[in-house]
Amino acid sequence: MTKVITIANQKGGVGKTTTAVNLATALSTIPKKVLLIDLDPQGNASTGFGIGAAQRKFNSYSIFLKERSPREAIQATEVPGLYIIPANNDLSAFAVEISNMENREYLLKQVITNEFSDFDYVFIDTPPTLGLLTINSLVACNSVLIPTQCEFYAMEGLAQLLKTIQRIQQNFNKKLNIQGIILTMADKRSNLSLHVESEVREHFKELVYNVVVPRNVKVSEAPSFGKPVLLYNFKCPGSQSYVQLAKEFLDREIYLQKQGEVNG
Ligand SMILES: Nc1ncnc2c1ncn2[C@@H]1O[C@H](COP(=O)(O)OP(=O)(O)OP(=O)(O)O)[C@@H](O)[C@H]1O
Ligand SMILES: [Mg+2]
Repeated sequence: MTKVITIANQKGGVGKTTTAVNLATALSTIPKKVLLIDLDPQGNASTGFGIGAAQRKFNSYSIFLKERSPREAIQATEVPGLYIIPANNDLSAFAVEISNMENREYLLKQVITNEFSDFDYVFIDTPPTLGLLTINSLVACNSVLIPTQCEFYAMEGLAQLLKTIQRIQQNFNKKLNIQGIILTMADKRSNLSLHVESEVREHFKELVYNVVVPRNVKVSEAPSFGKPVLLYNFKCPGSQSYVQLAKEFLDREIYLQKQGEVNG
């Protein structure tokens, strides 16, 4: 069964794309077959894999045009088993174009349902808004993974996001689950970072992953080389945290599957 997971947080720069790129990379080495759909007009995930403008002709905007199969937009990455549908700025017009359409929340779901059944996981990287691109992604997916930076205002941002998730559950996607919350860019020497971590854990309990992604300069350097940090510098603390995160992610998946079997 393919699981579709949206990576979302309307706050900008919290580590959505970094988590999408590196969790997807770590999972594909396990090995799982993984597709990453870049649904952000900024196209950061595409840049993070070194995909230049000329290689983005068929992209996550063109899959909505239905002129060709969405599968034709899939590109292999440098990582075996990991594929991407890139994005470019065409996508920003899309949200405007569809704003008056009746079924505007379901467009992505209509396009991707049953299309990628040979993949174990499909991750969707979303922009830093709760606009129609993110809503389409939340309607089309099974669960949402939420990276949160260990900074002031993290809790406010999470509360707003959870309200949106509830609204999507009530109106468009009853089965939408929260996959988990990932604390990113943590700094053990900062009291604020530790304080935010303990506040988020206290409030969201087991939804929060045990693994915390530390702030690490190698992580921020990797995209400029068009590589996931796991390929750029495997041994650095940032890479190792994503390896551990992938393990925890899979352990939780196995646990959820067993729970599902027990509950029938
Ligand atoms: N663990 C980390 N250590 C150091 N820098 C990081 C780390 N994670 C992300 N960064 C850097 O922080 C910036 C924001 O990260 P990223 O692009 O992943 O966030 P985002 O939530 O996708 O942003 P946007 O909302 O603009 O899409 C980037 O420059 C990235 O390289
Ligand atoms: Mg991003």
